Amino acid sequence: MDSNHILKETVSKKGLIFYYSGSGNTKLACEYISQNVHNIQLELCNIVKINEIPDLDLYDFIGFATFTDFFGQPFLFKDFINKLPIQKEKMAFILITHGSGMFGNALRHLSKRVRKRGFKVITGFALLTPESYPPANVRGIGDVNNPKEKHMERFDNFISDLSEDLNNYFRNGGEIRKRSINTGLFNTLIGFTIGNLMHSSTRARKDMGEKFVDETLCKECGRCAKGCPYDAITLNPKPQFDMTKCYGCWYCYNHCPEKAIYTEKFRGVGHYPRPNDQLREKLIVS
Ligand SMILES: Cc1cc2nc3c(=O)[nH]c(=O)nc-3n(C[C@H](O)[C@H](O)[C@H](O)COP(=O)(O)O)c2cc1C
Ligand code: SF4
Ligand code: SF4
Repeated sequence: MDSNHILKETVSKKGLIFYYSGSGNTKLACEYISQNVHNIQLELCNIVKINEIPDLDLYDFIGFATFTDFFGQPFLFKDFINKLPIQKEKMAFILITHGSGMFGNALRHLSKRVRKRGFKVITGFALLTPESYPPANVRGIGDVNNPKEKHMERFDNFISDLSEDLNNYFRNGGEIRKRSINTGLFNTLIGFTIGNLMHSSTRARKDMGEKFVDETLCKECGRCAKGCPYDAITLNPKPQFDMTKCYGCWYCYNHCPEKAIYTEKFRGVGHYPRPNDQLREKLIVS
């Protein structure tokens, strides 16, 4: 019997990661974390269209992971966290993914929101990934090869610190060392300037604007309506968009297999429906 096996038997701690992933980068990063935190069972919970909030008392610590949306957190994720029952210092970590390096307030505000629900945020990380925002892809922002080697090294260090801290706490009764959550000067500045000016619940909606369907391409498969995180699409039998519900997340645009959905400015370009090969190679989950 190897030492890992013995530890698995003696440490029966459980964690849960709540995640929101529009195109799969964040989900993949969470799977990678769950594979690399040792001796602790980590479950993943997709918050999109969740029926019931799991009983948090069944878990020893919680992770919160989302993509960056206009220098902040997506409305859906904020809303979900705001509905969680208040905790008494349950341990938590946070993760954001971002495509351009400009994540502004996303990490800092996520930490604040989670702490407001009574969680004790012990650490957090911002992972640079390929870009999923079609307008940015069209403009050549975001590198398909992200994360580069040095970013991957930092991500691996983050996970091994998390793993060590949790094991030290659960197995040895040691103190949890609160690690500083590094936003970096650049993102602090963006957060205080354009981040504060630009991010609002309706900003992304306005930015994406009206959506149209190329009826010659649409096969009425329903994928857009089924996947829309904000239930803003009905099929009749082609998609109809309710702009009062839409938050401009680009899910429908990115995921339509026929590329039939378009906006005033973008048509048939810049789609990112799922993690690219480069990212999958780096975050291989066995
Ligand atoms: C609507 C939208 C807004 C975005 N805003 C930002 C942003 O402000 N800064 C940034 O670096 N990346 C931004 N991105 C890129 C994503 O955060 C990034 O590609 C992320 O890894 C996508 O994760 P996912 O595949 O889990 O959805 C945005 C993407 C979308 C779809
Ligand atoms: S995903 Fe595309 S093809 Fe399918 S119903 Fe929506 S617009 Fe039509
Ligand atoms: S209609 Fe499209 S862009 Fe708007 S919220 Fe739904 S999936 Fe996102």
